[in-house]
Amino acid sequence: MNIIIAKDAKEASEIASGKIIEEINTKKSLVLGLATGDTPLQTYKRLIEAYQKGTVDFTDVKTFNLDEYLGLPKEDVNSYNYYMHTNLFDHINIKKENIHLLSGFSDDFTKTANNYDEMIDEYNGIDLQVLGIGVNGHIGFNEPNSKLTLETHVTDLTQATLEQNSKFFPNIDEMPKQAITMGLGTIMKAKKIILIATGIRKANIIAQFLNSNEIDTYTPVSTLLLHNDLTVILDEEAASRYLEEKKMIGNENFNKKCSNNQRKCSTL
Ligand code: F6R
Repeated sequence: MNIIIAKDAKEASEIASGKIIEEINTKKSLVLGLATGDTPLQTYKRLIEAYQKGTVDFTDVKTFNLDEYLGLPKEDVNSYNYYMHTNLFDHINIKKENIHLLSGFSDDFTKTANNYDEMIDEYNGIDLQVLGIGVNGHIGFNEPNSKLTLETHVTDLTQATLEQNSKFFPNIDEMPKQAITMGLGTIMKAKKIILIATGIRKANIIAQFLNSNEIDTYTPVSTLLLHNDLTVILDEEAASRYLEEKKMIGNENFNKKCSNNQRKCSTL
């Protein structure tokens, strides 16, 4: 695992977008897994800027989004479909047919989910998956539970997730209580994963994730400990509790390891 600690969310987004651009420039037909939410917004802005400057070309890039709320039409400002178009797709030269988004409506969600997984398989899996993290440790909408699901599936949202995301809705009662999400098996099959976490509200879960060496289904992000090409990009706030617990702030070895190259720390 690579852990990169950026100064702030802006620097974290520069590092994340830089990595995505590098991957696209290495493989023009990259299969990119994308997240929504607050965290990747600045990263998507940087990708748009890079496209406008001509330093990245999305012509052959394929995307698969992680999740969608059930029951929100794609025109709804809170749907992830709307989010992706307004915050990224409408501003870059990606082809419509290369965009894959889950729908919050289906007569048969099992079929919808199976089709999604099959499509990902047809592209030989995701090359680079971008992830955020919920305050409860969810990735995608793989919520803490006694069992975790490998494939794309419909899930009930936990109270913590409803509270975390209710800020986007007029009130919590108007929020969808269910979502469809890519499963942990599909996420884990991604060849590379970038997880971005910024801001103080992520400090506890990041500490729990990085300072533990156990897989716990009640902390779904912990499954990523098994991934062999994971980069965690944090800002100082999100990293603060982790570092505090490790008592690394001010520690000479840490400073030596991390002072150069955007404080890039390889496996602390
Ligand atoms: C969204 C997603 C979620 C978010 C997570 C963090 O597509 O998959 O797992 O990444 O809830 O959300 P923010 O970034 O709003 O804190």
